[in-house]
Amino acid sequence: MHQINQRPAVLVTGASGGIGRAISLAFAEAGWSVGIHYHRNTASAEETLRQVVVAGGAGALYAADIRQSQAVQQMVAVSCRQAPVPAVFICNAGIGGSQLLLRQDEAIWAEVLATNLTGTFHCLRAMAPPLLANGGGSIVVIGSHAGFHGTMGQAAYAASKAGLIGLVQTAAHEWGAGNVRVNLLLPGWQKTGLSEGAIPEGDQWHDHALSRPPSREEVAQTVLHLAQLKGVSGQMWNCDSRNL
Ligand SMILES: NC(=O)c1ccc[n+]([C@@H]2O[C@H](COP(=O)([O-])OP(=O)(O)OC[C@H]3O[C@@H](n4cnc5c(N)ncnc54)[C@H](OP(=O)(O)O)[C@@H]3O)[C@@H](O)[C@H]2O)c1
Repeated sequence: MHQINQRPAVLVTGASGGIGRAISLAFAEAGWSVGIHYHRNTASAEETLRQVVVAGGAGALYAADIRQSQAVQQMVAVSCRQAPVPAVFICNAGIGGSQLLLRQDEAIWAEVLATNLTGTFHCLRAMAPPLLANGGGSIVVIGSHAGFHGTMGQAAYAASKAGLIGLVQTAAHEWGAGNVRVNLLLPGWQKTGLSEGAIPEGDQWHDHALSRPPSREEVAQTVLHLAQLKGVSGQMWNCDSRNL
């Protein structure tokens, strides 16, 4: 366990949600100080912070709408005024809410793209400068299987997540010389607010070689591991057993 002032620091976006909380806890259990970002759900962010402290970690809450560039810049600036400065950022915040392509409502399309793609762009653009100034660091972006293969009824979501592939690879090219690693991780199906109504029920896991999705804790451990690898950038890591 690190002393409080020697802990490395991470900022996790969307840490009031299911996957973000699991990632926050994995870092906390490994002795990291965790910046817990949220948008609207203050109570859930506070619960993540409570669990981080129970796990022996330290943490702080940050509210920001990632669709707003200024709000993201301010969040990252405030987190970088703390000691220690974050060495890792996890871009996990996102929304679902897609429809069949022919029925896709334009306002929902714009909302999904503004959050998942443009919001992540805002995060990357704010997070890279402090990492570059500190001689390097790591950013893990949470993508989706839908971004590679599409999914019935998820046109906007799949398009937004496909956009993250090019964004992550470009960021890796541009910031590699500054020792900033940027990677994409696919968490597989997880039962959360976002996946409600879309996640397969029961034993419908025929397209998974292991006939099941990965556990949330295993996904979080994989994020923790990937974030600390010094020689990996611009790569895509799938946590489940689909599409062999
Ligand atoms: N669940 C799955 O099966 C699955 C599969 C593949 C990929 N993913 C990806 O995993 C990530 C996390 O999803 P999850 O399943 O954990 O969903 P979740 O429980 O619904 O959490 C979503 C998080 O994103 C935040 N968020 C939403 N809109 C935001 C905005 N405009 N500004 C800032 N934060 C915003 C939410 O904040 P508040 O609640 O505080 O408003 C919440 O913390 C997403 O990127 C998702 O696409 C999920």
